[in-house]
Amino acid sequence: MSVVALVPAAGRGVRLGLDRPKALVPVRGESLLLRAVRGLLGSGCVQHVVVAAPPDQVEVVAAELAALPHAHVVPGGAERTDSVRLALGAAGEVAPDAHVVLVHDAARCFTPASVIRDVVSAVEAGAPAVVPVLPVTDTIKEVDGSSTVVKTVDRAPLRAVQTPQGFNIDVLRQAYAAAGDIATDDAGLVERVGGKVHTVDGHPDALKITTAFDLAVAEAVLAAEESSAK
Ligand code: CTP
Ligand code: MG
Repeated sequence: MSVVALVPAAGRGVRLGLDRPKALVPVRGESLLLRAVRGLLGSGCVQHVVVAAPPDQVEVVAAELAALPHAHVVPGGAERTDSVRLALGAAGEVAPDAHVVLVHDAARCFTPASVIRDVVSAVEAGAPAVVPVLPVTDTIKEVDGSSTVVKTVDRAPLRAVQTPQGFNIDVLRQAYAAAGDIATDDAGLVERVGGKVHTVDGHPDALKITTAFDLAVAEAVLAAEESSAK
């Protein structure tokens, strides 16, 4: 029995606006993808990783990960859901004994090992699907079509969802088999087929690098850590 992680990394990084796919963008000399895959394998509870790469960059991505054992690269698809579906298909060959599957965005490469371990432990304890979450800190308002506030939403029961999301592998396969269209979140597909989704505590470091500002913040935090370690 093993744990396999799928890493959708086939996005173009349009909002980041650089000259390469977001997963290949370096932060202090190392790409988001390399950091994300090393983080998964280094957590001590993930044995195999399947990365979905931009279809025209499979070799570039494979070269990026060449130093890491147990990292496999497949071509991704047009939407994130397609990329995860393709990686999930490959997982059957790469890790036929896998009982737990994680889906982890390359863009959340600073996720602490403790979050990865908590997600895996919760699935191993019997949860069919698990997501790391944080309380929502902004005030949330519902607006109508003319941008007028309808009401202020009670944020107490709201949670922002991070990755890795963890699943019993049969549950994720069933959810993808039933899913016709795209979803922003894999656990959402499990919800649609009536599966229960459990939550564990997420972490602020598991932020998704989306914009140039996020990248600048990550650079600054790492620079501060490197200088304080000296
Ligand atoms: N992703 C993917 N396949 C796609 C689209 C996205 O594997 N067709 C991956 C991205 O590489 C990323 C994760 O899904 O790791 C979350 O997507 P997002 O943060 O939106 O990244 P991008 O799609 O690259 O960014 P943008 O939307 O700004 O283009
Ligand atoms: Mg995107």
